[in-house]
Order: sequence, then structure tokens, then C-alpha cells
Amino acid sequence: MIEPFAAVEIISAKRDRNELTDTQIDWVVSAYTRGVVADEQMSALLMAILLNGMNTREIARWTNAMINSGERMNWSKLDRPTADKHSTGGVGDKITLPLAPLVAACGGAVPQLSGRGLGHTGGTLDKLESIPGWRAELSNDEMLKVLQDCGAVICAAGAGLAPADKKLYALRDVTATVEAIPLIASSIMSKKIAEGTSALVLDVKTGSGAFMSDPKKAAELARTMVALGTAAGVKTRALVTAMDVPLGLTAGNALEVRESVEVLAGGGPADVVELTILLAREMIDAAGIVGKDPADALRDGSAMDHWRRMISAQGGNPDAALPVAKESHQILATNSGTMTAMDAMKVGVAAWRLGAGRSRQGEKVQAGAGVELHAKPGDYVKQGSPIMTLFTDEPARFERALEVLTGAVIIVEGGIVDRLPLVLERIEA
Ligand code: URA
Repeated sequence: MIEPFAAVEIISAKRDRNELTDTQIDWVVSAYTRGVVADEQMSALLMAILLNGMNTREIARWTNAMINSGERMNWSKLDRPTADKHSTGGVGDKITLPLAPLVAACGGAVPQLSGRGLGHTGGTLDKLESIPGWRAELSNDEMLKVLQDCGAVICAAGAGLAPADKKLYALRDVTATVEAIPLIASSIMSKKIAEGTSALVLDVKTGSGAFMSDPKKAAELARTMVALGTAAGVKTRALVTAMDVPLGLTAGNALEVRESVEVLAGGGPADVVELTILLAREMIDAAGIVGKDPADALRDGSAMDHWRRMISAQGGNPDAALPVAKESHQILATNSGTMTAMDAMKVGVAAWRLGAGRSRQGEKVQAGAGVELHAKPGDYVKQGSPIMTLFTDEPARFERALEVLTGAVIIVEGGIVDRLPLVLERIEA
């Protein structure tokens, strides 16, 4: 086959701040996926995009080219409207776990294709895999059956979904080109649009524990993604939410499953409950479902019923005891006073170093590892009282976790708490 372009022309066009044409974008994404454009050429183009940006048309075309690199799921056989949520990731962000069955209990169908954690933020599949027997890998037919029977399915995205993104994401990871808004937005939205949901709510995190620590950048990313979803016919909206402090009281796989089950049972930490309900209301509204309040479905046990069905349908035993780490270590308050700050990133890195996350793709994670918080900013703590417990199967890991937690918590007698509000901004097309 004679290729219509040479990669070097496209790289130099972006290097010189020119717009790429639709045909250039379609070709370069397809040619890279086919192995015609080499990694070093795509690396140079990605860096030129990071430095010089892309306009709205270019981002939309790039996203479309990534969608067209693979299959598009279709849920038209379902008797309910589809709605999904995507979070840009944070520490203790277990919201998908209670949210998917909650929206199912309100009459939505949630086709949640999730990933595994890499780095300091946990992955939904790693969390659910701490439930004995639960399976993340489903065929398309199995996915449809679980979705039809239970109203929600949480599983791994198959290799056929946006393969261009899989290749590009791995390359960005090792070429310092992850942080470009056009590349992040197209990466997330290509997968969500290919997944075939008709309504989508984006939870864009900001603060020290988020990928976009600057709220202005987070809002820009949110606006870009809402525009991409809307242009593709997906009813899309976004909330920019706080990730300056971990969400809830746990960070770690089985620990977060336990906390999610507490929320489904009508308890759980207030911030997790509030964000779960807010996102559920947005999802059912975007899906056109009327007359249902997610708060009722948490109270009356119907969200819990959907959780149990969904876990069982994927081979899991919702009644089985969750794994517990072999070793624990408590951190005590060094002085009395009000806890004024807790650095989410440091807590996330500690959980990761304890074995909850992986540093290489494919590495095994520990189900029981992580951090449990006993106090959060705003709480008064007494000297010597426990503020967190660290869990791991390998005690040699405590030292490195304790190292990163140095200075993670500030306690001041009479101190004033300066926190981001839970929701900073709501964006709708
Ligand atoms: N998540 C994604 O799927 N892609 C990105 O680029 C960043 C976060």
C-alpha cells in the first residue's frame, strides 16, 4: 500500500504550530496503530502537540480517529437507557463501586469499562478483584447479559476498544507527554464514546491527589471532554471535584470495597455518600430517567440488592470475607489540635508502596494493603490518638510508606481548615 503522507511532514507541521488537516490526523493515528509510523516519530508528534496544542476541530478529529481504530459497542438491545461515569482518578476514589448498582436501582443501565491502577491512584478492577471469585474479563455477550440482568456491569475493556489509545497511552507514559489536555481528553473520550453509552458524567478531580492539581486546568479539561462527548451525540456533563484530601477513610483494594459496601448498606463516610448521590442524580437525569431519587435507593436497600446481583453474576461471592493484610502499623498524633490538612498524594503513594498498587504493568497487587484513616481535616485529635493505620502483607514495606507520609498531616491547636469544596464547578454543554 502506498501511504498518502510521510510522518515527518506531519511532525514538522505541528512543530511549526500549523493546524493538522483531517486527513493528516486520520492517517497518522491509523498508520501508528498499524505500525507504519514508528514510536520515535509518534513521540516527536506527541511532544509537538503537548507544546503547541490542538484546536477544537483537531481534538475532535483525533478522538474520532482513535474510536475508528477499533470496535464500537452497541447496547440498543437493552430495555433501559445507558449512563456511565468516568473519574480522572484520585486517592480513595471508590465511587464507581456504590454508584453503578445505585444507578441500576434507579432504572439505568451502566456499562462501566474500567482499568487497573497504575501509580498512586487505585484501579476499580483491582479493588473488585479482592472479592473472592470475582472476574473482570468478560466477553461482549457476557457483558450484555450481566447488564441486562443486573442493570450494571463493571469489567475490563477488551483489546478491541480504541487500540490506538492503548498504544498511544503506553508511549505517552514513557515520553513525558501524558499531561497534554488534547491528549488526555481524546484518550478518555475515545474509550467512553466507543463504549457506546448514551449519557456520560465526568468526575474531573483537582487538588494535590489528582492528575490535574490546578483547578483551572481541570475545568479546561472538563470543558474539552464535555464538548467532545456532545459532538459525538453522548449527553455529557462534568463535575470538577475536590481531591486535596483522600475520599472517605480508606485507600487500598479490599479496604475500599468494605467502605463501598458500608455506603450501600446506608452508612459510610459523608463525603463518599454525598458524591455518590450527586453523581447518580446527574447520571439518571442525563439518561432521561425521572421520578427516582438515588438517596431513596440507598436507604431502601435496592442499591445493595443490585450490587449483590452484579457481583454474583461475575462469579464473586458478596458474602465472602474480604482479605485482610497480615501486618498493620498505627500512626499516632504527635500533638493535640485540629487537623488542618492531609495531603492526598502522600496518602496515595503510601498505599501504593504498601502494595495496593503496582509500579509496572502486570505486577500483582495485594488485596489487603492500604491506609485506613481515623481522622480527617476538621477533626480535633488528641496527642497519642491513632490518626491512620497502615496495612501490608510485607512488613519491610512500612519504612518506605512512613517516609512518604512525613509531613502529610498538619495538626494545629486552634487551627483553621482550608479545604476545597467537594464540587468546584459543574459543566454542561
Ligand atoms: N486516563 C486516560 O484514560 N487517559 C489519559 O490520558 C489520562 C487518564
